Amino acid sequence: MKGLLLAGGHGTRLRPLTFRGNKHMLPIANRPLLFYGLDHLKEAGVSEVAIILGPIKEDIEEQIGDGSRFGVKVRYITQGDPKGLAHAVLCARDFLGEDDFLMYLGDNLLEHGAAPYLKRFARGDASAVVGAVKVRDPRHYGVVELDGDGNILSIEEKPAAPKSHLALIGVYLFTPEIHAVIERQKPSKRGELEITDAIWTLQERTHRVRAIQLEGWWKDTGQPSDLIEANERVLASRAAEFFQVKGEIDPHANVSGHVGLGEGGGIAAGATVRGPVILGKNVRIEAGAYIGPYTSVGDGSVIRRAEVDRSILMEHVTIDVPFRIVDSIVGRGTTISERTQLPKGHSFILGDSSQVVL
Ligand code: DAU
Repeated sequence: MKGLLLAGGHGTRLRPLTFRGNKHMLPIANRPLLFYGLDHLKEAGVSEVAIILGPIKEDIEEQIGDGSRFGVKVRYITQGDPKGLAHAVLCARDFLGEDDFLMYLGDNLLEHGAAPYLKRFARGDASAVVGAVKVRDPRHYGVVELDGDGNILSIEEKPAAPKSHLALIGVYLFTPEIHAVIERQKPSKRGELEITDAIWTLQERTHRVRAIQLEGWWKDTGQPSDLIEANERVLASRAAEFFQVKGEIDPHANVSGHVGLGEGGGIAAGATVRGPVILGKNVRIEAGAYIGPYTSVGDGSVIRRAEVDRSILMEHVTIDVPFRIVDSIVGRGTTISERTQLPKGHSFILGDSSQVVL
């Protein structure tokens, strides 16, 4: 079984966070999003992975390299402009050869990874296995309709009038039968080679596409609020070993719950940290500051006075204000400080497409 991990696309819905860098390298619990996909492919027994790169490739090759530190062999395939998920499969045709493969969208996070797909595939009656989860509003996803026995009745991409509440997850298991379908496929109305069209054609042809309904949480991190929720979910579900303390916690600091602190970091006397929280290397939480649950703080950041709750602070962020920051994402190298000179007021230097909620 080979692995195909998609990290292409423009990431426009996550601007300004993606003006510089690739959305798949945004940190969730202080680890790039894409690392979770690699972990899940490895856990599913995949040993060779191709990562699909789009126009913004920064950091991916540098940080993942040949994959040895993840225990998988990684190679890179450049797709260029995102012409659809099935187009990405086409780009990887030589790499995939005649092997079965797990395709994993790099912006998806699944609580239980890809193992349930392999379990279903092991029954030996599938040309492909797709996963679905019940969601409130399925219009933003591929939607699968099943009969009472779990057989697929229809599959549609982002339908205006969905026939069910079952959203297709961005993880798919394919046999090489999918290639003949994709090779003859035409672009959709929005100009993309849709994987949902390919899956539906394969189903019409073989009647051997199997759908599994997944338990556990699943997150497609398309919007900034999804990243905050994914951060919360991951921190809530990590085992105690994840939260190692390598820095210094002052005996007079008030620390409770699971709190991880990287090398060179410090939580000062009079600071309060309530886990689950992950603090990177050389992070300093100073006296009077409060860090609340589901917050991650990147390397080299400093928090003074402020209260920070359910937020993602990236590397080298400095916050020094006497108020509470909630449900926020703060990009690398950002400073939030108090204006001391006159005229009084808030002063901003914000990049394009920033969001400020006061
Ligand atoms: O997350 C699940 C959904 O993912 C499914 O329910 C939909 O059926 C499926 O089409 C997909 O929808 P999205 O609108 O979320 O796809 P998006 O364009 O955001 O791309 C998903 C990932 O694949 C993302 O990590 C970027 C990457 N990608 C995307 C395209 C279109 C590529 O690498 N190349 C591409 O050409």
